[in-house]
Amino acid sequence: MKRSAFLLSLFVSISLGSFAQIIPVVTRQNALVFQVNPNKDLQMVYLGEKLANQDEYGQIPGLFNQSGDYTGLYNSAYTSSGTRNLLEPAISVTHWDGNNSLDLQYVSHQVEKISDDISLLKIVLKDRVYPFQVTMYVKSYFAEDVIEQWTEITHQEKKSVTLHKYASANLSLKSSAFYLTQYHGDWAKEMHPEESKLTHGIKTLDSKLGTRANLFQPSFFMLSMGKPASEDEGEVLYGMMEWSGNFKIDMELDPQDNLRLIAGINNYASDYSIVTNQTFKTPAFLYVLSQNGKGEASRKIQAWARNHKLLDGKGNRLTLLNNWEATGFGFDEQKLFSILKDTKKLGVDLFLLDDGWFGNKYPRNSDNAGLGDWQANRAKLPNGVASLVKEAGATGVKFGIWVEPEMVNPASDLYHQHPDWVIKQPNRGEYYFRNQLVLDLSNPKVQDFVFGVIDGLFRENPDLAYIKWDCNAVIYNAYSAHLQNQSHLYVDYVNGLYNVLKRIRDKYPTVPMMLCSGGGGRVDYAALQYFTEFWPSDNTDPLERVFMQWEYSYFFPSMSMSCHVTDWGRQPLKYKVDVAMMGKMGFDIVVDRLSENDLKFCQQAVGNYNQLKDIIWHGDQYRLVDPKSNDFASLMYVDSSKQKAVVFNYLVNNRYDVRSVYPVKMKGLNPDQKYSVQEVNLYPGTQSALDSQKVLSGDFLMRVGYNPRVDGSRQSVILLIEEAK
Ligand code: GLA
Repeated sequence: MKRSAFLLSLFVSISLGSFAQIIPVVTRQNALVFQVNPNKDLQMVYLGEKLANQDEYGQIPGLFNQSGDYTGLYNSAYTSSGTRNLLEPAISVTHWDGNNSLDLQYVSHQVEKISDDISLLKIVLKDRVYPFQVTMYVKSYFAEDVIEQWTEITHQEKKSVTLHKYASANLSLKSSAFYLTQYHGDWAKEMHPEESKLTHGIKTLDSKLGTRANLFQPSFFMLSMGKPASEDEGEVLYGMMEWSGNFKIDMELDPQDNLRLIAGINNYASDYSIVTNQTFKTPAFLYVLSQNGKGEASRKIQAWARNHKLLDGKGNRLTLLNNWEATGFGFDEQKLFSILKDTKKLGVDLFLLDDGWFGNKYPRNSDNAGLGDWQANRAKLPNGVASLVKEAGATGVKFGIWVEPEMVNPASDLYHQHPDWVIKQPNRGEYYFRNQLVLDLSNPKVQDFVFGVIDGLFRENPDLAYIKWDCNAVIYNAYSAHLQNQSHLYVDYVNGLYNVLKRIRDKYPTVPMMLCSGGGGRVDYAALQYFTEFWPSDNTDPLERVFMQWEYSYFFPSMSMSCHVTDWGRQPLKYKVDVAMMGKMGFDIVVDRLSENDLKFCQQAVGNYNQLKDIIWHGDQYRLVDPKSNDFASLMYVDSSKQKAVVFNYLVNNRYDVRSVYPVKMKGLNPDQKYSVQEVNLYPGTQSALDSQKVLSGDFLMRVGYNPRVDGSRQSVILLIEEAK
């Protein structure tokens, strides 16, 4: 059967007579199954491995002998509140007449086939009394088993309706136990994992920070079913919000011991009113299920990101030299000219000028002043940014620039000219985060201004090749001088940001942009449609980065992860470079202070990276040895033809005589293929401890493994595995 016909047939709803109607969504490995019961309630009855016979999905609900459901709604696919419901709702409203009740019933559904791979199921739900409607959207990506779910909410009531809660998705999951892996952090401490068994009641992952929403906790999580999943075993669901502002994910272990997962924008301080016929669209909740552990789930989500979401996900990236760690705010044109030469000497593609290049009345010589005044500082750059771009061209490198256009320092012209553009309470004192305030992106004039900052830079400098977009402050004193309805601010801010990014991408579709937020304070797949990469953390200590990049890699592909070599950390330069190589490599060091050998090593490393980057950026990633429970980390990337692979190994413990005692079992190779194994990226003057003449089968490398001989004198080791002809 042709794949497209096959796909369509999977969506045909199965009627079980007058009893119940089944609506399955099927992907390569999995099925998500909805059921319409005789009362027209829409329920979610299954998420798991797909069945060979799709007419058997209807048998599933009858096999559970759990305690009763007083409401018939515990497993609602979108739980309304104010009527029968007793648990956490997905939606709650006040109608035009002050009534708070809602009881959504199934009306119809249809399937739109977007491509061979992508289908969109729409299910229309309507209140039984009021002209109030929710359309549930389920977008399924067949090959990667990824689902995106969101809703559109509208009404034809006489006056406005207030939405108090408006989740994107409401899953109902069955398992004997649920183990949640979540992440917490702070500045320079991103992505610390914690795993716990969910108990009855509600576990919430949320953010109320407005901007820089992930600072304390991102929305991404793993949920293992039955027992904690390992890298290659166990059923595990990954989920996250595609939303760059406040989010809320509730996981409620209900009285029947099922898990109700309700994910969406955080409704904290965010009642949203919609007028008659207005539609409120919720952002997507993204999830993927694997029966073969965390590694497979991550490969699915990485592939999905490259194929469908991340800007230029199948394309190229630029290696770069950045000057933030090297110069801070202290530079001038001549200094930058010499760094441009260093960029060329190093062999990377681009020089990225960081913070400190703007502001005149309030020069940006520290983080106290200047944000908002995006004119080149005349003392540092008398000939403007244009002369830097020109000089970069003459030097044979590209030029990129840092901006933080959503923000303002009180010490700026912008703040004084447009006090009404700033988010702050009119009748209270200001409170700062990094000496700055957030501009009110709910205001279209502010959107125009922010767009104008970027557009202006490109119009004046058509050769500008890269933007680093930062966002350092959270929202305090949430108040907009523009909005009538203050409780719209958190939502309208993020939609305003997306308007700006969309306008930028409509005009400049391909220029690479880095998503940064005082480190990793803002990364999600709604934003990554507009960005080619993100900045995981200001913490560039390579030992920390081994752990951090490892955790991020469960959710984001390596090509999206900017990893820079800096002076942070006590490890040898080779270790730093090797760690940066597992992502999108850059440097932020003083090149002219490198010793001859260090410089030579970095130059060779850039050359080596250029040879390896295609495998790292576009290959499948396998985690081999977990640094959290071992003395070293080992992970690999395998290209799609299985002809080439790169294995990175990093010592993470400095106790006496630690080393890789056992061979590391590889993954993802072709068992029937012979491979050569060779150590690469050696420091000048050093010899590999490995026999580079060895040819071994994929079978051997995966069953027995290979010892990279990591130890205190060889703290990081990169292996290139190539098909032996
Ligand atoms: C943030 C970023 C850094 C750097 C500084 C500049 O902290 O995360 O990389 O750009 O701002 O002020």
